[in-house]
Amino acid sequence: MNILMVCLGNICRSPMADGLMRKKVSDHKLQATVDSAGTANYHVGGAPDTRMTATARNKGIDISGLKARQFEVTDFDTFDMIYVMDQSNYANVVGLARNESDIQKVELILDLLPDVNEAEVPDPYYGGQDGFEHVYDLLDKSTDIILNKLLNE
Ligand code: 4NP
Repeated sequence: MNILMVCLGNICRSPMADGLMRKKVSDHKLQATVDSAGTANYHVGGAPDTRMTATARNKGIDISGLKARQFEVTDFDTFDMIYVMDQSNYANVVGLARNESDIQKVELILDLLPDVNEAEVPDPYYGGQDGFEHVYDLLDKSTDIILNKLLNE
């Protein structure tokens, strides 16, 4: 199973989702590849936002080595599941889909959490530290659900 996490810049939300999922896959010795990408090219080659890196480090997750890249059409061939953070990411990724099979790989990550009263992982870029903690909490819960799917395969 190859899993791709996607947000806008690939420096805040999707690196956090990537780091959480990689750690859970590694802790459970599962055979799965995890990566992340952004729909935009603003930060290509850059490290994750230092506020997200610090939030992750406080939770025992190291995302400092990740480098931002832009989502590309071939990602539809490489990945089985493409989790996006918000509706705008969804529209951008689906806009690049070549066929129905590509479209079916794309899912809003919070659709995994029907009990959570939010549909999108909010962009924390322009907010305070609370926003980063909130992103962590939502993505920790979401990646637990993905882990359970992998464990039950
Ligand atoms: P992300 O957050 O999509 O979670 O990585 C953002 C990072 C950068 C920008 C927007 C969102 N930006 O406009 O530069």
